[in-house]
Amino acid sequence: MLSLTARILILGLLAQYNGQVEAQKSKGSTVTSEDWENLNQTVAGRLFQGNPFAEPCFSGQFDSPECKAIQDGYLDEKTRTDNPGAYIETQWSTCQATGEQCLLDSLNPHDPLPTLPPQECKRGSVPDYFINVQEANDVKSAFAFVKEHNIPLVVKNTGHDYKGRSSAPGSLGLWTYNLKDMKYTPDFVPTGCSTKPQQAFSAGAGVQWGEAYAFADSNNITVVGGGWLQGGGHGALSPSLGLGVDRVLEIKVVTPDGELKIANECQNEDLFWALRGGGGGTFGVVLDHTILASPRVTLPTLILSFAPDTTLAREMWSIMADNALKWAEEGWGGFSRSNVMILLNPKLSQTEAQASLAPLLDFGKQLQATNPDTTTLIFTEFSSWNEFFQTFTSQFVVGANLALASRLIPKDLFQTADTKEEFVSALLAADAATPGLIILIAAPTAFPFVPGSTSVTEAWRSSLYHITLRSNWNWNATLAEKKSHYDAASQSIDNLRKITPDAAYQNEADVHEPNHEVSFWGDNYSRLLQIKEKYDPDHLLDCWHYVGWRQESPRFSCYI
Ligand SMILES: Cc1cc2nc3c(=O)[nH]c(=O)nc-3n(C[C@H](O)[C@H](O)[C@H](O)COP(=O)(O)OP(=O)(O)OC[C@H]3O[C@@H](n4cnc5c(N)ncnc54)[C@H](O)[C@@H]3O)c2cc1C
Ligand SMILES: *[C@@H]1O[C@H](CO)[C@@H](O)[C@H](O)[C@H]1NC(C)=O
Ligand SMILES: *[C@@H]1O[C@H](CO)[C@@H](O)[C@H](O)[C@H]1NC(C)=O
Ligand SMILES: *[C@@H]1O[C@H](CO)[C@@H](O)[C@H](O)[C@H]1NC(C)=O
Ligand SMILES: *[C@@H]1O[C@H](CO)[C@@H](O)[C@H](O)[C@H]1NC(C)=O
Repeated sequence: MLSLTARILILGLLAQYNGQVEAQKSKGSTVTSEDWENLNQTVAGRLFQGNPFAEPCFSGQFDSPECKAIQDGYLDEKTRTDNPGAYIETQWSTCQATGEQCLLDSLNPHDPLPTLPPQECKRGSVPDYFINVQEANDVKSAFAFVKEHNIPLVVKNTGHDYKGRSSAPGSLGLWTYNLKDMKYTPDFVPTGCSTKPQQAFSAGAGVQWGEAYAFADSNNITVVGGGWLQGGGHGALSPSLGLGVDRVLEIKVVTPDGELKIANECQNEDLFWALRGGGGGTFGVVLDHTILASPRVTLPTLILSFAPDTTLAREMWSIMADNALKWAEEGWGGFSRSNVMILLNPKLSQTEAQASLAPLLDFGKQLQATNPDTTTLIFTEFSSWNEFFQTFTSQFVVGANLALASRLIPKDLFQTADTKEEFVSALLAADAATPGLIILIAAPTAFPFVPGSTSVTEAWRSSLYHITLRSNWNWNATLAEKKSHYDAASQSIDNLRKITPDAAYQNEADVHEPNHEVSFWGDNYSRLLQIKEKYDPDHLLDCWHYVGWRQESPRFSCYI
């Protein structure tokens, strides 16, 4: 048996060896192991090597306990978010352009085939090193390091990104996952302001929404989450309580000059506005944000599902379209797929809610009578948003390669019978082309927002729905096949593009969204660009389709 010290030494040597191999591979990089050691010292030893999630499964180790754990957790959201080298959509850990990857079979992670020779585990787009961020100085050191060595900097929190913005080949990663402080302040006043005190919830950048909702429950408050704040942030409560960006009160952010800044309505106002919708990883690295909290809400909720059937889907979506404007004003939010509808409303009593949804309830009751075995119809009340959320988590595809596309659907489409019919037909056509379309009833339709306060496209304010669809591929797809899935998602969403203005939610958009500046930011783009140049003149931060992005940058060399 090797002694523990000897084993640690051997592991250390292996780590160094891997590091050197990788350093030679990354083109144009002049970073030596001494440079990394020095960086490690400036961040108090919090530098660690980035390794692809499935690495322990390769080189004949498929049956090892380490690999068994990876097989078991391959499709699990929490396992992936806990691991800095794992990504929810697995192609973003790979280099799609070159085929370098370290993946298992997402249809059956227990199949060893993807790990057998000639397959090898390649780093792909996983950062060479990560800093486990604890304090502002870690971010400052990272900015100085990437500026000196001219390598890409990426910010990775949970790795949920659909557009590859938390990975890049040959990069240094800031892992913000462990910034987990949470605080409830009943009488919050933004620093330096003299505004009326409000209930507020503060969270470190690494707090995930599930954690925030549970904390909110224990403090008898509601926080509105969903997604990542700086890009918009929609959820099923957004129709009544606003987008994530509508509810931000203060943000602590390290800007590329290395300074920790407080941004709110009374200081660094331009930065505050830009961070409320301009996109994360663009203007600075956020350490902490404070958002408005609301009293706890009870939620009348309808759940309807039935066996997939195109005729029934048309009927259900037609009822939705006929009632769309009324339901939007009343504050209904939720989700729909072709055979599922979930609607909830914090503003109506159970009796009011039942009356409001009568057409849908009648449809559901008829279905229940004719198809009792395959129909579920539940009308109930949840005692808080957290209770609802815990019931409906894990609805998403995790651990696969996936191309997403989406569209915001404007209220205008629901003015006439003809345009409603056009909309429902477009939905059915898109869902037929790429099955699994989701309607997120999440636009802030019944929320009195403050005009000009956020930098997301104004289209959010005149929309009812955000619609997403996807196309998946497995580990052994060829380059041409991968491209065909991006094309399939784009072409499918064209059914809706044809009948809507240029508007999409930036965090869940087509990787190749046409006219993306207008789609994501509308008239606000030029001002965002000025603010980008002010705070990040050297473009130390950059991501795909971001404000001021530099398409020719080597950080994008793995995109296809
Ligand atoms: C399963 C699933 C469900 C989703 N559900 C929703 C939803 O309900 N509502 C919704 O609005 N969106 C939803 N999204 C989309 C989500 O908003 C985006 O995927 C978002 O990019 C996730 O942010 P992240 O920080 O967790 O991810 P990461 O991949 O870690 O980071 C994504 C981007 O955020 C930037 N970033 C991360 N942390 C920081 C920081 N501290 N400072 C500055 N920049 C930072 C990074 O630079 C990167 O560009 C969902 C996505 C998935 C995969
Ligand atoms: C950074 O330093 C810490 C503590 O000295 C050490 O444990 C860690 O392995 C170092 N990281 C790298 C990448 O060498
Ligand atoms: C929680 O908040 C609700 C809504 O504001 C209130 O009616 C209720 O009394 C509160 N419960 C507790 C235990 O404070
Ligand atoms: C891809 O891999 C799967 C199993 O993981 C296998 O069934 C399929 O035949 C492979 N396809 C090609 C083209 O090799
Ligand atoms: C943002 O866009 C809105 C809507 O088009 C516009 O009214 C507003 O002036 C823009 N704000 C800035 C700062 O450009």
